[in-house]
Amino acid sequence: MKRVRISQCLQSNVPLQDCTIAGWVRTKRESKENIFIEVNDGSCLSNLQVVVGVGDSSFEVAQRLHTGASVYIHGNLVPSPAAGQKWELKPVSITVFGDADQSYPLQKKKHSFEFLREIAHLRPRTNTMGAIMRIRNQVAYAIHTFFQQKGFLYVHTPIITTSDCEGAGEMFQVTTLDLVQLPVVDGTIDYTQDFFGAKAALTVSGQLEGELLAMALGDIYTFGPTFRAENSNTTRHLSEFWMVEPEMAFATLEDDCALAEEFLRFIFTWVLEKCQEDMKFFDERIKPGIIQNLEFIVKSSFEIVTYTEAIKKLQQSNEPFEFPVHWGMDLQTEHERWLTEKYFKKPIIVINYPKAIKAFYMKLNDDNNTVRAMDVLVPGVGEIIGGSEREDRYEVLLARMQEMGLNPDDYWWYLDIRKFGSAPHAGFGLGFERAIQFITGMQNIRDVIAFPRTPGNAKF
Ligand code: 4AD
Ligand code: MG
Repeated sequence: MKRVRISQCLQSNVPLQDCTIAGWVRTKRESKENIFIEVNDGSCLSNLQVVVGVGDSSFEVAQRLHTGASVYIHGNLVPSPAAGQKWELKPVSITVFGDADQSYPLQKKKHSFEFLREIAHLRPRTNTMGAIMRIRNQVAYAIHTFFQQKGFLYVHTPIITTSDCEGAGEMFQVTTLDLVQLPVVDGTIDYTQDFFGAKAALTVSGQLEGELLAMALGDIYTFGPTFRAENSNTTRHLSEFWMVEPEMAFATLEDDCALAEEFLRFIFTWVLEKCQEDMKFFDERIKPGIIQNLEFIVKSSFEIVTYTEAIKKLQQSNEPFEFPVHWGMDLQTEHERWLTEKYFKKPIIVINYPKAIKAFYMKLNDDNNTVRAMDVLVPGVGEIIGGSEREDRYEVLLARMQEMGLNPDDYWWYLDIRKFGSAPHAGFGLGFERAIQFITGMQNIRDVIAFPRTPGNAKF
């Protein structure tokens, strides 16, 4: 069916004859002479106002319309006498595909984010989720544009895997075994009888396979869903989230930090430019000052600080942290946020973490105690990027795996890459939803993805 998107109508420089739009009724208001219908089609935050006069042929149809109804309206786009809007639509005909009755939950009033999560099937029709979805779309576009312009190859890594990249054991198992009658041999489950002939799970990261591809193709990136069965009911954790993982061949930790900074700056600039209306909404309704904050970050350079320096600053801060600070500990959100929000007041990159708190694949420093890791921390969210230079020395990697209790036989292929033509390489992972959270200022990560998966919830 031929139609124009409302975003196009509202951006028009000239009146449009014979213009057809289609969308959902947001509100309806009646005066003595007119019925005013606000229609939204998801193409932009603004509604198009449709004005139906008493004598108009579509007056009766308009009278029977309710909030939530889907409409197909043919008419003329004319200058609007009302303040704050350039155009309105004078209908010639209104077709109603599906009306909505009074039980439609999205009547004109403010709903809590908690309530909206319960009606995630209708939530995309709200201003907030609409704006989120348009910003996600633009950020995804920016990500591809950034890497394509730099000559990175977009590669696809498997979702089902038999190895645990982060070594944290937080994986969702994938099996076709009969859970009521498991094949048990000598007291343990015989996975050779399972679908893949081995214990399989959903991936927590595409990195390991990404490295294999980078060691053949040069710079690559992945952009896909990842899954973590960690039981963290926080405002920053999802069980299913999207991750962008670039991997650079012939690159070091320094290259990795530089790429991360350039990358984030590119995305933020893109959003400020292409999502002005939606960003204004977040600035006015969700987190005042968010636009200014992003503009500031785009201009300022990120601070690089070693883990050891960060610990010192935290110890000297005299803040009453819930988790006492000592060298060797994993930084908690409260520490990350103090560093980036209170101390540096801008994004920071923390490098050279203790080896004991990081994954097996990170390159060991000469001190034998820290690894060439890097985490990008931003105000309001904390960690949005985690990355590292990879251990490219066969013997060192093997020793690290053994030290961390991994079975090298399970990772023979990963080790092999260090035997044949090994080279320095580095990469990172950006949590897509964390980035959207940071950009929009949304409090809860469950509200920046259409259908969130969290412990106890995979509805819709
Ligand atoms: O720091 P992480 O665990 O690093 C990796 O997975 C590496 N393999 C990446 C790489 O070097 N190629 O995760 C990367 C990012 C985090 O910084 C965070 O932004 C996000 O993924 N993330 C989550 N986002 C939402 N919910 C969760 N449960 C997340 N866990 C990690
Ligand atoms: Mg991390």
